[in-house]
Amino acid sequence: MKHKVILAAALALLFCGGVQAQKRPWLNKSLPISDRVNALLDQMTVEEMIGETVLHSYSVEKDSDFRALVSKNKVGAVLKANGVIQIKSLQDYALAHSRLGIPLMFHEDVIHGYRTVAPIPLAQACSWDTAMVRRTAAVAAREAAASGLSLTYAPMLDVCVDPRWGRVTETSGEDPFLSSAMGEALVKGFQGSSLSLANTVMACSKHFVGYASVTAGHDYLGEEFSQRQLFERYLPSHDAAIRAGVGSVMCSYTMYNGQPVTFSKYIGKDLLRDTLGFKGLYMTDWTTCSNALRQGASPNKRFSATKSLEAGIDMDMASNAYRDNLLALYKEGKVSLGQIRNAAYRCLEAKFKVGLFDNPYLYLDPKREKREILSEQNKQETLEMTVESMLLLKNDNSVLPLADGGTIAVVGPFAEEKDALLGVWRAKGKPEDVTSMAEGMSKVFGKGRVKIASCDYKALTDSVETVVNTAKSADAVIVCIGQNSKNIGEANCVSTLEIEKGQIDMLRRIKALGKTTIVVMFGGRPLITKDVLPECDALLYAWHPGVMGGEAAALLLKGERVPSAKTCQTFPRTVGQVPIYYNTYRPMNYIEYTDVEKGPQFPFGFGLSYNTYEYSDLKLNTGKVKTTDNITVSVKVKNTGKYEGREIVQLYVKHIYDASTVIPKEKELQAFRSIVLKPGEEQEVKFTLTPEAFKVLTENMQWKTEPGLYEVQVGRNSADVMTQRLTLE
Ligand code: GLC
Repeated sequence: MKHKVILAAALALLFCGGVQAQKRPWLNKSLPISDRVNALLDQMTVEEMIGETVLHSYSVEKDSDFRALVSKNKVGAVLKANGVIQIKSLQDYALAHSRLGIPLMFHEDVIHGYRTVAPIPLAQACSWDTAMVRRTAAVAAREAAASGLSLTYAPMLDVCVDPRWGRVTETSGEDPFLSSAMGEALVKGFQGSSLSLANTVMACSKHFVGYASVTAGHDYLGEEFSQRQLFERYLPSHDAAIRAGVGSVMCSYTMYNGQPVTFSKYIGKDLLRDTLGFKGLYMTDWTTCSNALRQGASPNKRFSATKSLEAGIDMDMASNAYRDNLLALYKEGKVSLGQIRNAAYRCLEAKFKVGLFDNPYLYLDPKREKREILSEQNKQETLEMTVESMLLLKNDNSVLPLADGGTIAVVGPFAEEKDALLGVWRAKGKPEDVTSMAEGMSKVFGKGRVKIASCDYKALTDSVETVVNTAKSADAVIVCIGQNSKNIGEANCVSTLEIEKGQIDMLRRIKALGKTTIVVMFGGRPLITKDVLPECDALLYAWHPGVMGGEAAALLLKGERVPSAKTCQTFPRTVGQVPIYYNTYRPMNYIEYTDVEKGPQFPFGFGLSYNTYEYSDLKLNTGKVKTTDNITVSVKVKNTGKYEGREIVQLYVKHIYDASTVIPKEKELQAFRSIVLKPGEEQEVKFTLTPEAFKVLTENMQWKTEPGLYEVQVGRNSADVMTQRLTLE
């Protein structure tokens, strides 16, 4: 009897499922997503379609307003709701109030970690380790997905040459080629092998495009940029993200050809859709539809909604221009049903892609959330990323790694600092999750060897006396200084790149004690080090390193890990040199400022190790090829140090001249390779360069590989290379 009941129940379920699938064909998993989306759209009213284009910013304080909007189908997706409990409550409500059972999609800014916060993207890019960066994004995706989210507003792929800009911290540095490699790795890390898995999230390539083009590093102060700059500097990293399959793109706050990007059909359609072939979801940035009013580019949100829809924007983040105006605009014939349906299509398609129509609770398993957040695996993977992101910028007389024995003073404003180490885009990261320098040093060197003394951020109070006295009593001193996360990030730009004067004065007093003095410097951007360098024997630049920062730095200082990072952003000597970057257009004469030493403090690609690596025998397989041929480049690299270590071999191409009449860049990164070498080991590193590596954007704005004379440069950084010349016919 029992079996009969079960069978009947199973048949009933199958029947209902079948009926449901017939009544709601969009739930039929065997259909292609495009058919499912269209089947659903065919059932939807215009109001419901418009509701899908609304990206609502949630707050608990306005929960009832939110639910009222949901009950009227006026919300499609949500940002700033987090955690399984909160999101499940909102999803339950949405499904109960959606005539067609349409789930909400939940987004968030998970830029470099959700709760296990990793180093800032600018630091991660200094690893040049795309596999490691991909794994780190996968950690972020696992934690975000376990917390109810299915889309993150990352990677941020702006290319910045002005570290005064607060958002430099989220970029992968000044170079389009490296930023492209990082963009691909980050997209693949977030999105994994399938968007419909419960431990992956849809990525979002932002900010499309040219957001870094701001006047004097001043956020929101758009600086016009040419189509050449667009194609050479700003577009490649987004192109790479789109080729990697990124599911969404976010428009930028900046302007192009005089228009807010939000209104630019050239950017949103010609470029994004037609040139780059992007078919996914295109959303605004935070209230760009209403920002345009303040920018004087729009009289009202009706106008903004019309222009944004015409420019191909599918989803309106938090301005409510679409929500409050599209229906009237449609009824007045100002926008068409087709435009609305196209936008709603891509908003719904994203939900189908991440599996929400197959299971609206896919990302809402409280047990998985508890298991995933701050898991040991996530922390260990993040630790390795953090180790590979810290730059060794000075190590006189190989004072590092620190000798065994003796007492170590860990002092300064960042000795016990936790909050700043999270960086500014920390998602749900908490200061208590951070291993501080003091904790890391005690863990790695043993509490007995470590003496700790903190002081205030400006190093101007009596606490500095304690710092100096603690330093006096130790054999070696780790001075932890830098810039916190208050003047970095969105809308947080600086007019100088110096750290607090009090910190420098404190460092000088410590150095005068004659002890081994090592600086560990923290910051979300390249800072001026010219006053720090003379006052220390070694300098480890730790960036804003995330939750594992203190332990990673300690492992490096002890020699249990060997520094290998190379900077992805030029370090200026003074802020007056900014903008400063390696791949400038070639000047007619090389001149330097008359009032500062030549060149940057540290060039793009620079980073020291505890080893030295010898480069030799740079060879090309030919001296003359056709513009359509590949060439092979080989170089030998030998580890002449005492430790097993990783070296990042960099390959640049310089156009001595080519058949185009454009002025080429000084040089451009075209390949890189990480190799691990044991002490004394030598490896031959081979690169195959396609004609792509020699392309130039001609005066007709066409990418072409032209006949000409070129120089292949291979070395340890952009300023320290071996060269070989090559003719392309
Ligand atoms: C912000 C940022 C963007 C972020 C969005 C949502 O203003 O420009 O990067 O993803 O709003 O927080």
